[in-house]
Amino acid sequence: MLQELVGGKLDLFVSPLRGPVLTGDQAHPMDAPEIAVDETVSGLGLVVRTLGESQVPCGVVVPRVRLQEGVLVVGARLHVAPRAFEHVLVRVDEPSRLRNSLLVDRVRGHGLILSDRGLGCPCENDPVHVDLLRAATPGCARRVHLNNAGAALLSQPTLDAMTGHLRLEAEIGGYEAAGAARDAIDDTYAAVAELVGGRADEIALFDNATHAWNAAFYSVPLGPGDRILTGRAEYGSNVLAYLQVAQRTGAEVIVVPNDDYGQLDTVALADLIDDRTKVIGVTHVPTSGGLVNPAAEVGRIAREAGALFLLDATQSVGQFPVDVGILGADMLTGAGRKFLRGPRGTGFLWIRSEVLERLDPFVAEIRSATWDGDRGFTWVDGAARFESWENSYVNLLGLGAAVRQALDLGLDVIGRRTSMLGGELRDRLDALPGVRTHDLGEVRCAIVTASVDGVPAADVAAHLARSSVNVTTTVPEHTQFDTEDRGVHPLVRFSPHYYNTGDELDRAIQSVAAMTR
Ligand SMILES: Cc1ncc(COP(=O)(O)O)c(C=O)c1O
Repeated sequence: MLQELVGGKLDLFVSPLRGPVLTGDQAHPMDAPEIAVDETVSGLGLVVRTLGESQVPCGVVVPRVRLQEGVLVVGARLHVAPRAFEHVLVRVDEPSRLRNSLLVDRVRGHGLILSDRGLGCPCENDPVHVDLLRAATPGCARRVHLNNAGAALLSQPTLDAMTGHLRLEAEIGGYEAAGAARDAIDDTYAAVAELVGGRADEIALFDNATHAWNAAFYSVPLGPGDRILTGRAEYGSNVLAYLQVAQRTGAEVIVVPNDDYGQLDTVALADLIDDRTKVIGVTHVPTSGGLVNPAAEVGRIAREAGALFLLDATQSVGQFPVDVGILGADMLTGAGRKFLRGPRGTGFLWIRSEVLERLDPFVAEIRSATWDGDRGFTWVDGAARFESWENSYVNLLGLGAAVRQALDLGLDVIGRRTSMLGGELRDRLDALPGVRTHDLGEVRCAIVTASVDGVPAADVAAHLARSSVNVTTTVPEHTQFDTEDRGVHPLVRFSPHYYNTGDELDRAIQSVAAMTR
């Protein structure tokens, strides 16, 4: 769509720019983007447009050129028309001169990231790019944050989207602020849908991944003799829900064994599945290690058998591409705060529209259903029938900003860098005497779990914390099947993200090595 608006000239767009509504005398010049380009910028023209009805350019950019630490920077002043804007398109006449894809700017403290899908990427050893990403992440200056599987660091644009909305709520009222932010709120649904390859009306938003998952699972009609199939890496809360529902309904919980790689054995799954199987619940990436379960094969088997496939993608979304079409999921859940870099207190459910009628939503309330005024009610359309009325719109808009940023960077390039950093960290930990990593699976991701001989995991984590390296430890009860199988937990859990650097891995490794001497 954006391409069409400016014909072939669109090379960059700013996304998401969620500045406050600027009116009348508030309109003011703002610093325009800094753009890293190849040797020369002569003839580089920038035209900035807002995405309004008229598409009339609202500002003129006057290039200022300077050399900064070896990077040629185009600065400019932009006069913004007194109007609200959602996106700003930046047209660059000679895109071939652009080298880096990430452009960072501040608009009156409302940071935004300019990105270009086609050029450059945050992986491929582009230090300038990673530097820019880090510059737009306040926490990078304070900590070596290797706890992205816990909660990743917010970027400045996400922080700005949230604080901007919080301020607006204080200034004009919470309901009024939500009204003013309607388009941005809608865009959060669209962005999450795009992230997983679904449709906006297939997304329901929640305050965490567990509530999203509960909404799906507790809505699956089950009765005596029905079967719930799951794997040995399943997240603790999901297993507790299976056990509770089995007790309530007489359904049976069957745990599929692992294969030789330690991942869900899809051959065993295919053997176990039958027409009693109503739902297969699988955790894509467990909380307790670097395993990536073979979800696409599970999806294929589920589809053939006509069973519902509920995928817990809490640790995989934002870490690498997760596409419901490829994975064959019917329901998929995720958290905002982990690899998506959204705020705490956010989660989402994607639900395939074709399976809606096979589910009995577990709670009826004024968001999910309409009371007909008598003694009946009707579910609202789409995945909204799983939501409840009240929301933190601050968090929701933060989630939208974070997801847009991930989409702009590209999940494929994010995935390549996270897995590269995870692999490097794993290899280097394994090379230390007295240190062992414990990640299972044929495919491993950025979560790295390790033990240090003779040192409890909590002490290792505390030692790293004293060097400002954030890690955490696994909790045996959170993955009880895996604990039964291996008895290795608690382990130290490292989880780098794309904004971590080789120097930061060095610091973590040196800190662990110091414990083994
Ligand atoms: C695999 C997995 N599933 C579900 C959850 C629960 O997510 P939330 O804490 O957002 O409810 C987690 C949390 O760590 C997790 O790792």
